[in-house]
Amino acid sequence: MVRKITVVGAGNVGATTAQGIAQRELAREVVMIDIVEGVPQGKGLDQWESAPIEGWDSRARGTNSYADTADSDLIVVTAGIARKPGMSREDLLNTNAGIVRDVSENIKRTSPNAIVIMVSNPLDAMAYVCMKTTGFPRERVIGMAGVLDTARYRSFIALELDLSVEDIQALVLGGHGDTMVPLASYTTVSGIPLAQLLPQDRIAKLVDRARTGGAEIVGLLKTGSAYYAPAAAVVQMAEAIVRDKKRILPCSAWLQGEFGMRDLFLGVPCKLGRGGLERVIEVELTEDERAALGKSADAVRETIALLS
Ligand SMILES: NC(=O)c1ccc[n+]([C@@H]2O[C@H](COP(=O)([O-])OP(=O)(O)OC[C@H]3O[C@@H](n4cnc5c(N)ncnc54)[C@H](O)[C@@H]3O)[C@@H](O)[C@H]2O)c1
Repeated sequence: MVRKITVVGAGNVGATTAQGIAQRELAREVVMIDIVEGVPQGKGLDQWESAPIEGWDSRARGTNSYADTADSDLIVVTAGIARKPGMSREDLLNTNAGIVRDVSENIKRTSPNAIVIMVSNPLDAMAYVCMKTTGFPRERVIGMAGVLDTARYRSFIALELDLSVEDIQALVLGGHGDTMVPLASYTTVSGIPLAQLLPQDRIAKLVDRARTGGAEIVGLLKTGSAYYAPAAAVVQMAEAIVRDKKRILPCSAWLQGEFGMRDLFLGVPCKLGRGGLERVIEVELTEDERAALGKSADAVRETIALLS
C-alpha cells in the first residue's frame, strides 16, 4: 500500500477507477479531483460509505483543490471529454490537450515525484502532452490502452471458443484502437497457439471487433464511452506498480530506440513495478507485424502534429 493515489476527473472512468483502487487497498488515501464542484466530494463520500460493507480501509474522498492531492505516489489522469457516436478519438485532441496541460502543470507543482498513468484520449498524444508539460522521465508517464485493447480481444476469443477468459493470453501493440497491432503468434489459449483452435478468417474478425471495440460501446451507450473495462485496466496497472509486481503489460511508453523507434508514445510490452515503467520488453515481430507497427507509429505522429 502506498500513501496516496489521486484520480483526476471524477467522471465515469475516474470514479470507477477510484472505487477499484480503494477496494484493493492500493493506497492509504484515494483522492478524486474534478473541476465540477460537489461531484468528486459526493462520489468520494459515496465510495467511502461502501467501505464498511465491502471491508476496505483506504480513505476515499473527493476535492476541487490540488492541495489535497499533494505528494501523491501515483496519479491517474482521466480528465477530459469522451467520445460521442460518430467521433474519433482524434476529434478530442485539442480540447483534451488543453485540459491535460492544465492538469499536468498542477501535478508537476503539487506531486513532483508521482508516477502518472494517462487515460484521457487520444491516449498516445495525451501521454506526450503530459510528459512534455511535467518534464517527468519516461519511467513516470505511462499510457493505458494496451491492457484494455488486449482485454477486449481476449474477451471476444473466449466468447468465440466458449472457453475461460482466464486461459487466454494475448499481446496487442501499437496505438490505441484503430491502428492497434495484435500479435497472432503471441496469442495462446493455455499455451496452445490460437491458430490451432480457430481458422484465420475467424481470428481476423475477432481482431477487427477488438480494434473497433471502443466505438461499439460508444454506439450502444450514445452518451459517452466505455468505463468498466477501461477502469479495470487502469487498476491492474496501478496494482502492478504499487505492489511492485514486475508484470509485463502492454502500455503506451515513450520509445527510445526500442522496436527501431524513438521519441513517440506507442503501445509496447512494459515491465511495471515500483519504479513505474521499469523496462520496455522487445519481442520478435514478423515483417507484417513490423509494418503494421510502423503504420501505427505514423498515425500517432500525425495526431501529435495536429496539436496546437
Ligand atoms: N485510454 C483508454 O483506453 C480510454 C478508455 C476509456 C476512456 N478514455 C478517455 O478517458 C477520458 C474520460 O472518459 P470518461 O468516460 O470518464 O468521461 P467523463 O465525461 O465521464 O469524465 C470526464 C471528467 O473530467 C472532468 N474534467 C474536465 N476537465 C477537467 C480538469 N481540467 N480537471 C479535472 N477534471 C476535469 C469532467 O468534469 C468530468 O467529470 C476521455 O478522454 C475518454 O476518451 C480512455
